Amino acid sequence: MVKSSDLSVGEMAERAGVPVSTLHFYEAEGLIESWRTPANHRRYDRRELRRVAITRIAQSVGVPLAEIKLVLDGIPRTKAVSAKTWARAAAPWQAMLEERIALMTRLKDQMGYCIGCGCLSLESCPLYNSADTLGQNGPGARRWIGKQDERAEI
Ligand code: FES
Repeated sequence: MVKSSDLSVGEMAERAGVPVSTLHFYEAEGLIESWRTPANHRRYDRRELRRVAITRIAQSVGVPLAEIKLVLDGIPRTKAVSAKTWARAAAPWQAMLEERIALMTRLKDQMGYCIGCGCLSLESCPLYNSADTLGQNGPGARRWIGKQDERAEI
């Protein structure tokens, strides 16, 4: 049955701020659902907008589509969903998101400092990684790996 709040694919794309092709992709991946009118026009329940928004936001912080789908699969489509239900469904993301937040915070805070990566391209590198001496300890950013507050030492 057509509800006045249901959206055509164009309306859905416009309100969600994504191309129609993205909606088709999300649908093919099982993240959102549509239904067809007797004239074979695709329609979306307006509640699917929240699934698109959650997917876009989660993707933007690097959550894989498979993990997004797991969460969305735990949200019923047949009724209005409470904030509590959404929060419960997202609970598995808590630890992962907190880890990413901590990593991004460190990256933001240490971007301007020598991280011991071997580049020797900052003025501070000769002080903290003279002649790439930290490279003898292994690959990667040696002043980054395994340290919680590298900046405090710089
Ligand atoms: S930032 Fe690369 S060695 Fe200092």
